[in-house]
Amino acid sequence: MTTLQNDIFLKALRCEPVSRTPIWIMRQAGRYLPEYRATRAKAGDFMSLCKNTDFATEVTLQPLDRFDLDAAILFSDILTIPDALGLGLYFETGEGPKFKNPLTDARSIQNLPRIDVNTDLQYVMNAVSSIKKALNGRVPLIGFSGSPWTLACYMIQGEGSRDFAKVKKVMYGQPELMHQLLDFLSDIVSDYLLAQIEAGADAVQIFDTWGGLLSESAYRDFSLRSMERIIERIKPTGVPIIMFTKGAGSWMHLIKGSGADCVGLDWTMNLGRARDQLGDNIAVQGNLDPSFLLTDEEKIDEQVARILGENHGRPGHIFNLGHGITPQVNPELVKFLVDRVHDLSFLQES
Ligand code: CP3
Repeated sequence: MTTLQNDIFLKALRCEPVSRTPIWIMRQAGRYLPEYRATRAKAGDFMSLCKNTDFATEVTLQPLDRFDLDAAILFSDILTIPDALGLGLYFETGEGPKFKNPLTDARSIQNLPRIDVNTDLQYVMNAVSSIKKALNGRVPLIGFSGSPWTLACYMIQGEGSRDFAKVKKVMYGQPELMHQLLDFLSDIVSDYLLAQIEAGADAVQIFDTWGGLLSESAYRDFSLRSMERIIERIKPTGVPIIMFTKGAGSWMHLIKGSGADCVGLDWTMNLGRARDQLGDNIAVQGNLDPSFLLTDEEKIDEQVARILGENHGRPGHIFNLGHGITPQVNPELVKFLVDRVHDLSFLQES
């Protein structure tokens, strides 16, 4: 096994002291980079980019060649699982994801096929192995999956939505059916993350993008519970698990007991208070509103100082955005952010 040249990200996940704060950026490979747009044009469409090992490897490494990032993230998508389940994922230009065959009734849920992640999603494991090889120990590689709740949102709604009303109708109206779907997805997500770990992922993140749409009790029963099932299956590997629920600001007391090693924070909560509530053994990641990357160096500088200040030198802090980077961002400001986080945190530590 190649030893890592830069392991500050993994150290921070374990709440060990580091010489400077590690940083990576959610959706760091994406349309804000001209070289990403060029590779995507060669691939033809987004899913072909994900399914081609060489292209997926190339775009994963693009942001690392530009910026001094402390982790790479597998280039793929959370919707690979519903795609493998036969829902017919497609992307129309300029629009979000859509499904040809969304789940419409109990029968469509009960008839979902059993899949084997190592064959039906083999292209993802091929990408993980290829990226690990290309990284050659430069930085750790993050694998990921969507949370069962977030996957169920897209699978029932059939596309993105502001309120996911169709999904909530099933959840509140037929809670047992919803649990059946979530348990089914929890098993697949666990197998999927374990396969990514087997292929070389050094840490894994669960994206619960739509958990914040729920009431506290529904979050606990439908989203958090299924993520806890997954964490239980991953724990024995010793690979750190990051849990990111967007909009979870008031639920830190629930998340604290989930078994996650690190909690992703959006920008609505105060990082210092989240840390106080989570205790010393759980790391945190995130918190910068991605929209600051549309402003200027001075504003970004202020935010870096604010976030480092709220963390107050505690071990277990990973700098990141509170959600994915947007296509309009100027890459020069990303470079500024990454360097500023390193410089300012180094000064604070020494
Ligand atoms: O972080 C990374 O660099 C890894 C790549 C990654 C992508 N999607 C690539 C992508 C990751 C981690 C994801 C996760 C993902 N996908 C989530 C959870 C995180 C979040 O942002 O909330 C969700 C909800 C999805 C579903 C999805 N895939 C949407 C809503 C879209 C459209 C978004 C848009 O900006 O148009 C996608 C497509 C997608 N996934 C793109 C990328 C780079 C853009 C596709 C393109 O090139 O046109």
